[in-house]
Amino acid sequence: MARILTGIQSTGTPHLGNILGAIKPAIEMSNNGDNESFLFIADMHSLTQIKDGSVMRENTYSVAATWLAFGLDTAKTVFYRQSDVPECAELAWYLSCYYPYSRLALAHSFKDKSDRLEDVNGGLFTYPMLMAADILLYDANFVPVGKDQLQHLEMTRDVASRINHQCGEELLVLPEAIVQADTQLILGTDGEKMSKSRNNFINIFETDKALKNTINKKVVTDATPLEAPKEPEGAAVFELFKYVATAKQVEELAAKLRTGGYGWGHAKKDLLEALIEVFGPAREKYNYFMENKNELDKVLDEGAEKARKVAKATLKRLRSQIGY
Ligand code: AMP
Ligand code: TRP
Repeated sequence: MARILTGIQSTGTPHLGNILGAIKPAIEMSNNGDNESFLFIADMHSLTQIKDGSVMRENTYSVAATWLAFGLDTAKTVFYRQSDVPECAELAWYLSCYYPYSRLALAHSFKDKSDRLEDVNGGLFTYPMLMAADILLYDANFVPVGKDQLQHLEMTRDVASRINHQCGEELLVLPEAIVQADTQLILGTDGEKMSKSRNNFINIFETDKALKNTINKKVVTDATPLEAPKEPEGAAVFELFKYVATAKQVEELAAKLRTGGYGWGHAKKDLLEALIEVFGPAREKYNYFMENKNELDKVLDEGAEKARKVAKATLKRLRSQIGY
């Protein structure tokens, strides 16, 4: 049985693009597969960017609530906060001492961020070693990641090989990346890739009223008058509708727009209704967890306990080799 592990940063409430593009497919995979899976909230990586404790805490809860609301089965997946496993920070230190500074300096992620961010801290520089620790601590075989993380996986294999070579035995498991190539690209309210930084995202967990407001204000439409026929394909409101409506509803909306006498405002109303309908149960669960954070703590604490057992065993092997 293979062990699959992946981490998600807690940088905010997941948006529709994260949910449809990453969270739902990952949950399907982990609930249906025979593999053992580990999924954690990378809240120590988030510390490179987020210095406000209440924001950090809220983000972590929000991410946890989203995964649970969309049906993550914690009987099948070890689900935990990275910061609840201090062994991870310990391993990250050991790895840093085995990895050349010059290699770390080649990380794309560091170069990109150090050009963009105001706060270029030491944590950003050693970020790949913390990520390697996340993976090596649990003897993970496969790591599903986006293309942007491939270099980090290479560094993980590299540092693990160096340690194995030094010890003269296969102390650490070399992981393989699984690139999620065919994830669906979710477009945002302006028709471009949905992303937090473009501010073209939809937060499905807003109240109905706020969601309505978001759709009315953010979803871009042209000025074709209500009576005129309209081309639905390529219009942001129609593209968004397709993600959530049934095939029949999509066909009907397309026909109404093409005929004319049906405005973009009507289409936005249809979109709002479809979002509320489709995500009703998940929104309810999300709100429940956000109002009962003690339940989130309980789930995450139980996950951390399972994770720490594995983590401690790995560290024990390594500590003895290092000479402690
Ligand atoms: P990010 O917070 O941008 O790192 O995204 C977290 C996860 O959501 C990654 O697996 C991304 O590939 C995925 N994701 C983000 N935005 C989109 C989008 N617009 N369409 C599909 N997947 C996305
Ligand atoms: N760096 C990853 C990202 O930004 C998140 C992450 C942290 C991760 N640790 C990991 C992903 C371990 C996979 C395995 O997306």
